[in-house]
Formats: sequence, C-alpha cells, structure tokens
Amino acid sequence: MNRLVMPEDTNTFGTLMGGVLMHWMDMCAAISARRHSNSYAMTVTVDRIRFISPVRLGEVVNIESEVTRTFRSSMEVGLRVIAENLKTGEKRLCTSTYFSFVAVDSEGHSLTVPEIVPETERQKQRYRDAEMRRAARLEDARKVQKESELTDQDDVAN
Ligand SMILES: CC(C)(COP(=O)(O)OP(=O)(O)OC[C@H]1O[C@@H](n2cnc3c(N)ncnc32)[C@H](O)[C@@H]1OP(=O)(O)O)[C@@H](O)C(=O)NCCC(=O)NCCS
Repeated sequence: MNRLVMPEDTNTFGTLMGGVLMHWMDMCAAISARRHSNSYAMTVTVDRIRFISPVRLGEVVNIESEVTRTFRSSMEVGLRVIAENLKTGEKRLCTSTYFSFVAVDSEGHSLTVPEIVPETERQKQRYRDAEMRRAARLEDARKVQKESELTDQDDVAN
C-alpha cells in the first residue's frame, strides 16, 4: 500500500504523525488478513512499534504486509514500512512489526482459517518463530487480565 504524506497527516514539525501511520498499517494488514481468510478480520494485537526514522511531508510511505502464520482462527501479519523521497529516490526503513487478527463471521464469532504454506527460507523462519511470538502475546494478555482483576478487587475494597 502506498500513501503520499499530506499536510493533514503531519504534526506541527512537518513529519508524519505516528497514529496516522499506525492507522494505515492496520488497514494494510487487515487487507492481507481478509484476503487470506476470505472473511471479516478484527485486529487483536499490535506488537511493539518503534519509529526508526521520521517521514516528511510530500514523501511516500510504502507498507508491505504478509500473513506469516495462522493458528485456528487467528492470523499473524508481518509489516514493513519504507519511506521514499520522490525527489532523491532515497528509501529508508521506518518500522517493522506484527499485528494479529481473528477471522470472524457477521455475528462476530471466530472462524477457522486456512493454513499458511511458507515457501521461501525467510517465510519458513518467520513461520517457525511465530509460535514463540504468539506465546509471548498470550502470556502478556494473561498478565494484563490478572492486573485488571487485582485493580477491580482494590476498587471494591475501597
Ligand atoms: C477478536 C475477538 C472476537 C476474539 O474473541 P475471543 O473471545 O478472544 O475469542 P477466542 O477466545 O476464541 O480467541 C480467538 C483467537 O484469538 C486469539 N487471541 C486472543 N487474545 C489474543 C492475544 N492477546 N494475542 C494473540 N492471540 C490472541 C486466541 O488465541 C484465538 O486464536 P486461535 O483461534 O487461532 O487459537 C474479541 O477479542 C474481540 O472482539 N476483540 C475486539 C477486537 C477489536 O475491536 N479490534 C479493533 C477493531 S478491528
């Protein structure tokens, strides 16, 4: 997906706002997830995002996304964002991360998705590593759940 950075996408410093870029990344990743699952796909998690280099007004943002692995109803999507200066032809990496999606029907119930068959060495590596990334996300979700239960108990006690 390519987007030209317009004035309404920028901050007062004249560079692309992080929230706008995350919105575009979500759109791009959702297209990959929907294409693969042939269903609605809801964003469930966004991995850590570090903005490596700023993108200036008038530059082009190129977002590549790919379903790296599927489980039952969930899909991991890998993203890579490149900024391109049209005047100089310079290209630089802005960020890369993973989003995960769940395929749902029109009632919001999760659906089983087709498996991914990795072909290149890079795809095979990402496929293998996806298991570990998923375990870390689920562990993180368990911690957040536990913390919110403790906070609820505190609220009741007070
Ligand atoms: C997506 C949603 C429907 C899933 O509902 P749920 O009750 O958690 O459903 P399940 O327990 O069956 O989990 C569905 C899948 O999500 C995965 N999942 C849930 N939480 C996860 C997390 N934190 N990290 C990774 N995967 C997670 C489960 O492991 C399961 O995967 P699998 O079927 O491949 O094994 C629900 O969480 C939801 O509606 N969330 C809000 C989504 C949203 O509004 N997104 C932003 C706008 S698109």
